Amino acid sequence: MRNNILPCDAQAVIDFLQTEVPILTQSSQVEAFEQEWSRWLGVDFSVFVNSGSSANLLTITALREVYGLGEVIVPTLTWVSDIASVIQCGFKPVFVDINPRTLGMDPHQVLNKITPRTKAVFLTHILGYNALDAHLIAELQARQVPLIEDACESHGATFEGRKLGTFGLMSNFSFYYAHHMSTVEGGMICTNDQILYETLRMLRSHGMNRMQDGLGMLITGPWDLGSLSDIEYDVQILPTFPGSAGAHQTISGPDNWVVFDNGAQRKQAAIDFVKWLTAAPQVKSTSLTTADLPTRISVGDDSAFVAELNEKQPGSEVFVHNLANAQKARPTVSQYPKISEALGQAIVSVLLGKAQPADALNTAAQTTDAALAEK
Ligand SMILES: Cc1ncc(COP(=O)(O)O)c(C=O)c1O
Repeated sequence: MRNNILPCDAQAVIDFLQTEVPILTQSSQVEAFEQEWSRWLGVDFSVFVNSGSSANLLTITALREVYGLGEVIVPTLTWVSDIASVIQCGFKPVFVDINPRTLGMDPHQVLNKITPRTKAVFLTHILGYNALDAHLIAELQARQVPLIEDACESHGATFEGRKLGTFGLMSNFSFYYAHHMSTVEGGMICTNDQILYETLRMLRSHGMNRMQDGLGMLITGPWDLGSLSDIEYDVQILPTFPGSAGAHQTISGPDNWVVFDNGAQRKQAAIDFVKWLTAAPQVKSTSLTTADLPTRISVGDDSAFVAELNEKQPGSEVFVHNLANAQKARPTVSQYPKISEALGQAIVSVLLGKAQPADALNTAAQTTDAALAEK
């Protein structure tokens, strides 16, 4: 087994690292790769992850989210992460022996093992050999049993002229360095189903499915707003939630930033900052860059802007038009400055090399707890 990374690949990494602000996680390169991979394979959507095993796990997790728990038919010859993900997600694996000619599950036995509890057939194409046959595909379609293909070892292999990984509801690829194509470590999940695609993107990264250039990190505290249940926060449900009747009455404003202590100048700096942050041009620019929803009614009146935002973040116009229902800004929690300060201190102490991230965050958590307990 040899590395298949060429000098030009290494050079491409160096060139990227030398760009002005190289974003090292899901950014333009990942998105471009996902799109190119979808075009090459012939599917609508691809989601890049850090390994084929993660592709297996997220696929089965998404299956559970969308289809619910039950049985999954799996082969006796596969990779351990295929079976581990089925068990880890709470499905019952139902094993089917392989056909020694294809190394894939014996189609006849697969069909015999289908019951009303079957949620999917999760087959593996071993070492470039196709595990499908036309009868199996037709029967699964007729019985409405989803097919999932693990093509981690079979990039570019075909069945009846069509690439493996395009027949199922979802498919998995690995880019581990021993495979046909490598990203050192890496994996891909492919699908034509928009709901599964959005679910997979959320599962990939802490619920965030709107990462774009320019947004690299989301800071969440050792708490989240939803858990501050004993504080009068006066938040109402969003216009798209059941029971909201399509409207709600609060809008969120800027609520958490770090201001360093330099006396009266700090107050002025904070005022200047908030003025700049909430001015219409900045609100538009922030919304278009990060897909955050605009907080200014005048911005919502700009139809060209609303159309552009909706193009980037489909559905956002519902929220923008809802600005007309807003009657007051969402009230803030009086302890916020102390919480921001504790978080800022944690970041600064790590940047200055004075604390390890875990210790710094623990200290911030204790300070935050004390601040919240003051109420
Ligand atoms: C069939 C199959 N599925 C899943 C995987 C897991 O991929 P990774 O090594 O990228 O985690 C492999 C790895 O070789 C594999 O062969």
